[in-house]
Amino acid sequence: MSAARSLLNIIYNRRTIRKFKPVDVPEEIVNMIVEAGQRAPSYNQAYSFILVSDREKRKALEEICDAKYVSNASVIIVVCSDLNRVKKMFDYLSNNHVLMYDEYPVETIYSIFETGLATQNMIIAAEVLGFGTALLDCALFEAERVAALLELPKGVVPIGLLCIGEKDELPPKRPRWPLHMVLHKNKYREPNPYEVANYVEESSEMYDQEGYLMKYGGIPMKYKDYLAAKIERTKELERKYEKLSKFLKKAGFRI
Ligand SMILES: Cc1cc2nc3c(=O)[nH]c(=O)nc-3n(C[C@H](O)[C@H](O)[C@H](O)COP(=O)(O)O)c2cc1C
Repeated sequence: MSAARSLLNIIYNRRTIRKFKPVDVPEEIVNMIVEAGQRAPSYNQAYSFILVSDREKRKALEEICDAKYVSNASVIIVVCSDLNRVKKMFDYLSNNHVLMYDEYPVETIYSIFETGLATQNMIIAAEVLGFGTALLDCALFEAERVAALLELPKGVVPIGLLCIGEKDELPPKRPRWPLHMVLHKNKYREPNPYEVANYVEESSEMYDQEGYLMKYGGIPMKYKDYLAAKIERTKELERKYEKLSKFLKKAGFRI
């Protein structure tokens, strides 16, 4: 099989791994993975990756994240969007640059996009090297506490927690929208209600067949009902979103 085909195979077959073997991943491997992240397309390289190896900090992070459904991740990296270093670069280049004025969202959008591109490169690099990954959103929702723990300056926002380790499970591939609903030809085609309903029903059924919620969360619910509950605009969700919005604003992120 050609190199291109085998890389495509790796991409097509990647699954989020939440159970890892308690085996160390050497630092050279971590460096290779992050270097792969750095090769992603980028304007400002507006990201920083905090490798959390300190025992106490890891424990604190695990408590903040409350992600008990992930076990034995050898490497934990807090993926951050970093406008702090970008601002320093702009300061060096100009005394009247866009980031001196808290006005426009462009650099914020770039930074989050670049962070995502780099993170995905890292995920694929880990797969190529034979490791599994899980990307968790808890670092974003607990951004303020994570920032305090890792001494992140203003402008550096945790976006995700990337767990890497040796795979100790092989879950089934999870569902995706059909290609024809994602790939539009020359103009946008509105999804019709039947297509949406079909996907929601079929994909939820796939998660239920995997026993996804029970396996990882001990949650005896149908996936569809779980999703519906998760997106409901409750007072608790409002509080959570308000808190995060306030933190992002304070960090200089224009969202
Ligand atoms: C931004 C982002 C945040 C995520 N956060 C979580 C998370 O907090 N917990 C989790 O178990 N999975 C999380 N995931 C992983 C998704 O649940 C997972 O990718 C999805 O179920 C599809 O499964 P697959 O990656 O195996 O195809 C996250 C994915 C993304 C892109």
